[in-house]
Amino acid sequence: MSDAYKIQEHKYDVVVVGAGGAGLRATFGLAQKGLRTACLSKVFPTRSHTVAAQGGISAALGNMGEDDWRFHFYDTIKGSDWLGDQDAIEYMCREAIPAIIELEHYGVPFSRTEDGRIYQRPFGGMTTHYGKGTAQRTCAAADRTGHAILHTLYQQSLAHSAEFFIEFFALDLIMDEEGACRGVLALEMATGQLHLFRAHGVVLATGGYGRAYFSATSAHTCTGDGGGMALRAGLPLQDMEFVQFHPTGIYGAGCLITEGVRGEGGILRNANGERFMERYAPNAKDLASRDVVSRSMTIEIREGRGVGPKKDHIHLDLTHLNPADIHEKLPGIAETAKIFAGVDVTKQPIPVIPTVHYNMGGLQTNYHGEVVTLKDGNPDHVVPGLYAIGEAACVSVHGANRLGSNSLLDLVVFGRAVANRCAETIRPGAPHKALPASACDRSLANLDRLRHADGGTPTAMIRDDMQRTMQNNAAVFRTGETLQEGVQKIRAVFESFQDVRVSDRSLVWNSDLIETLELQNLLGQAVATMVSAENRKESRGAHAREDYPERDDVNWHKHTLCWVDEKGNTRIDYRPVHMYTLTKDVDVVPPKPRTY
Ligand code: FUM
Repeated sequence: MSDAYKIQEHKYDVVVVGAGGAGLRATFGLAQKGLRTACLSKVFPTRSHTVAAQGGISAALGNMGEDDWRFHFYDTIKGSDWLGDQDAIEYMCREAIPAIIELEHYGVPFSRTEDGRIYQRPFGGMTTHYGKGTAQRTCAAADRTGHAILHTLYQQSLAHSAEFFIEFFALDLIMDEEGACRGVLALEMATGQLHLFRAHGVVLATGGYGRAYFSATSAHTCTGDGGGMALRAGLPLQDMEFVQFHPTGIYGAGCLITEGVRGEGGILRNANGERFMERYAPNAKDLASRDVVSRSMTIEIREGRGVGPKKDHIHLDLTHLNPADIHEKLPGIAETAKIFAGVDVTKQPIPVIPTVHYNMGGLQTNYHGEVVTLKDGNPDHVVPGLYAIGEAACVSVHGANRLGSNSLLDLVVFGRAVANRCAETIRPGAPHKALPASACDRSLANLDRLRHADGGTPTAMIRDDMQRTMQNNAAVFRTGETLQEGVQKIRAVFESFQDVRVSDRSLVWNSDLIETLELQNLLGQAVATMVSAENRKESRGAHAREDYPERDDVNWHKHTLCWVDEKGNTRIDYRPVHMYTLTKDVDVVPPKPRTY
């Protein structure tokens, strides 16, 4: 097979796949440490999805009132509905503070307080004194924080000697017989040239798989390519049943309206004009955690109190806010609401609906960013040479539900952690072990099959079936019935991929082929999500089952691992939640009822 395709070979110490916030933070961190580093990205780095992050990045700086990283630690555990690994959460919340100061020094143009400190706004589930007060913990650059961070990180990457391979689509991980990752095969989209990047470390920073759903705030590029590659390499994905619905996607368009709007005083209202969150979360109200707010909105709609002619959405009201504050702190959403909903936010409410936003699940890693898996009874077996960070990974700091603004934090903290880990374990310029001549054969056979696929079903049709199945059957609320039907349907959609038709045979700028490869990545993760959700017989965080409405810590306080093979066969196993901390600076927080 290798003879039919000419492959250009490269040798690096480390290869990073993905150039969003996590990928870029890792890339320049690795280069800074003297490791020869390549970064592959299917889009130009500053077009990565991090650019769309709005409201901010959390860290207990205490610039706008009392705060402590230990409060952040507690909030994140509670937000995760006790599924997060407490060692990793401790690491993230403590490291948040130096990570933000570092970003400031790199040049991120944060908004400022009167006295020149980084501006921080309240976000959902962020409290002081272990749930008693409201924390202002989310550091913001107006409502364009992701844009500001991404551009700064890209500039830092250029300042160091990392090498970029832009508009390269990663096809597969190259694994050896011992289960170690030895590199990645990629397609240069502009020329059709194939490239084998050999490396001592491959860091997957490929983002989430939001596009498995019909309506998502995620960019069209969010196709979980790292997760797809991991499944094909025989690795499991963790906690895939936990899919976050952001309460405020624009009705009909799906675009994000930041939680920062509610942080700045915006209010959710039903058809009666009622601030209904007071009934569901008497303390936190509109700033309860996202799973709680999304469920409350769904109940309001179901019970006939939705707004609009079909009573099928909710209003986000900012009309009582000072227009000058909106202009200064929320300029982006004012523009987005005008373009996509046709409303002037100073005079009219924004029509919103819970919209798929984030995948808590992904490649299981430890807090160093090393991919780990269940092997010979060891739930934390390190896969040599493979790392994952950002939304592609499941560290797990977000558990069953991520708190808003902990995502940008996750990117920079674990992007930095993986660079540090690689610097500790990889010797710059170390020789590469020989690879068998057949190392790329499986991947090339897959590429060849899809490139020549002449079945009866266009890629777009299969994708549409997948997206509608996920939207209908793995929604905000789930039941045994919807999930069992969902498993059957998504397995049928997976099967239908055998009949896919790709119309263009070229390897050069062939968007039909690239979308087919992306769909293949999405399909494995869609199956893992539905099967994992059907299997978990409790409600926890974003996984809300009407037939099992309570959290069940006796039977289900554990992480799901799901394998999906090339035929769509699945295997499920579980591993314990890390109920320990790294230091004595914080105590383990045992599970308790979760109210806001
Ligand atoms: O609402 C937002 O600005 C989104 C932030 C996040 O997902 O962390």
